Amino acid sequence: MDLQLQQQISEWNEQLKDASAEEVIRFFLSYYKQKVAFSSSLGAEDQVITHMIANIDKSATIFTLDTGRVFPETYDLIHATCSRYDMNLKIYFPDAEKVQQMVNEKGINLFYESVENRKLCCSVRKMEPLGRAFKGLDTWICGLRHEQSITRRNLHLVEWDETNQLVKINPLINWTEEEVWSFIRDNNVPYNRLHTQGFPSIGCQPCTRAILPGEDVRAGRWWWENPDTKECGLHAKR
Ligand code: ADX
Ligand code: SF4
Repeated sequence: MDLQLQQQISEWNEQLKDASAEEVIRFFLSYYKQKVAFSSSLGAEDQVITHMIANIDKSATIFTLDTGRVFPETYDLIHATCSRYDMNLKIYFPDAEKVQQMVNEKGINLFYESVENRKLCCSVRKMEPLGRAFKGLDTWICGLRHEQSITRRNLHLVEWDETNQLVKINPLINWTEEEVWSFIRDNNVPYNRLHTQGFPSIGCQPCTRAILPGEDVRAGRWWWENPDTKECGLHAKR
């Protein structure tokens, strides 16, 4: 990253430290125009951001990665969200040839066998399509929060994403889970009904389970792995 951009990112973090999430989103949609997109997994945080974007600019790009292994409830929510906000979510699919080769070589549920296989699956089903979604962009907006995991504690509102060579904006970085749910209730935001069945964090169906009372909110994601390997690559640091 060049020095000027590094300085600009520090300035934005300072300048926007007391701004609301909606102000942050408004600022970056207007600053980057066609070169910014919001990446949504349809999780609770992402639904809050989609609601805010819909209030600001319905022509802004929101995309989601359909890995082919997401829950039926997530497809229902994609439909409900597009209808509610009268917006299109742009959907990216993995490369069919690559998925075919992977599952024929390693099995349909390869991810349970090793961290290496799990990362391969995330790379084919998420990272490669994400690379296509990023074409022509300078920045991406995400729904990360500090509270979500140990791997997210040190993130800033505005970050340089070295892996993807993009500026990354985390408008809800300081929000608590309670704030997310108050916003959803107060604004009647559509949400995934799995959230009411013990799933605070929802990814692909075979890699997400419900959590037990008192468990960490991401305990149900890749539950068979250690907490410090539990990033799919979307938010990995080099
Ligand atoms: S993950 O890396 O463990 O899957 P998580 O589900 O916590 O991520 O979501 C964090 C953020 O990553 C979301 O707020 C969203 O910005 C982005 N994200 C995660 N999964 C997807 C997806 N399938 N499509 C688009 N964006 C996603
Ligand atoms: Fe594959 Fe699981 Fe990663 Fe989804 S979360 S892409 S099913 S390993």
